[in-house]
Amino acid sequence: MKTIKITLVSLLVLGLICSLAFAAGPAEKGKALFNDAKFAGGTAGKSCGSCHPDGKGLEKAADKKEFNIMGKKQANLEEAVNFCVENSNNGKAIDVKSEEMKDIVSYIKSLKPKKKATGGY
Ligand code: HEC
Repeated sequence: MKTIKITLVSLLVLGLICSLAFAAGPAEKGKALFNDAKFAGGTAGKSCGSCHPDGKGLEKAADKKEFNIMGKKQANLEEAVNFCVENSNNGKAIDVKSEEMKDIVSYIKSLKPKKKATGGY
């Protein structure tokens, strides 16, 4: 009886460790959405990645204070994402407070070029 208990508990602990180790972070989940043509109900057959391959061109987006896509202004990153959702992916704007928006935004933030260590001269 005791061995069964120990086995069960160890399996449980193992499962917990595995799920923690392999759980995708928000940026990774965002990346998956970014490359999913059906994200936000998109019907254009294009994912965000079709036009922004590997997020190219969006490296500065996380720090922008104002956006201008195709002649239209957007006040923040979430609006810019929804602008592309509606006008590029032919999908439906998603809730700016939704998990999906948070994931996409954290993916776009992850595209920021990493600061290089400054060497002293
Ligand atoms: C049909 C092509 C197309 C698709 C699909 C598309 N975009 Fe865009 N996106 C553009 C164009 C064109 C611009 C404006 C030019 C630029 O800044 O690169 C833009 C601009 C942006 C910007 C603002 C960039 C900046 O620095 O001002 C963001 C953020 C963005 N897109 C996110 C997304 C996301 C997220 C998706 C998927 C939901 C997506 N885009 C899908 C074409 C597209």
